Amino acid sequence: MKIIINKTVISLVKGDITLQKTDAIVNAANSGLLGGGGVDGAIHRAGGPAILEECKKIVAKQGRLPAGKAAMTTAGNLAAGYVIHTVGPIWQGGNRNEASILSSAYTESLRLAEKNNLTSISFPSISTGAYGYPLKEAANVAEKAIVKFAKEEALSIKEIIFVLFSDDAYTEYAESLEKVTSQ
Ligand code: APR
Repeated sequence: MKIIINKTVISLVKGDITLQKTDAIVNAANSGLLGGGGVDGAIHRAGGPAILEECKKIVAKQGRLPAGKAAMTTAGNLAAGYVIHTVGPIWQGGNRNEASILSSAYTESLRLAEKNNLTSISFPSISTGAYGYPLKEAANVAEKAIVKFAKEEALSIKEIIFVLFSDDAYTEYAESLEKVTSQ
């Protein structure tokens, strides 16, 4: 599925984000930036130790990465140029600012990509694994944030890809994108 907002193409694909060849891939990390399971584990495994080395330097310099913020490292052995690490919210029922933190994780990642003049970026479905954010709600927040960015802020970014790991995630993101763009 593909839509175009101004000069930015937003598309949904099913697959493994570690194989993406976009300028950057986004990692659903945790604040310690030391790796973990899920997509975080997959990116560190496939990219090799250079990613963790840079993550450690970032934490040594600026402390833990707060939820909703983003930081960039090499992509090591991956085909992508960079990994943008961001931290989504842990789902706690929906009344703990989860939506605005999730939205910020997407927007801050896109701003960092713009700041570095990148043209393409791939996102996983942030917070919907270990962090427990319900898929339907997360898809809606993620896509609203990205469509808003494409309308209001995108200059260098021409391609934004959601890489969904399961059929369920793909279906939810596809249904949600239709709703978000018809609003
Ligand atoms: N490519 C794309 N998506 C993937 C991949 C992959 N290779 N592997 C897993 N996913 C999907 C999961 O199916 C899920 O939908 O990424 C989504 C996010 O799940 P998690 O990786 O668990 O991320 P999150 O819910 O944000 O939790 C973050 O998990 O691994 C730890 O260190 C990480 O503590 C942090 C927490």
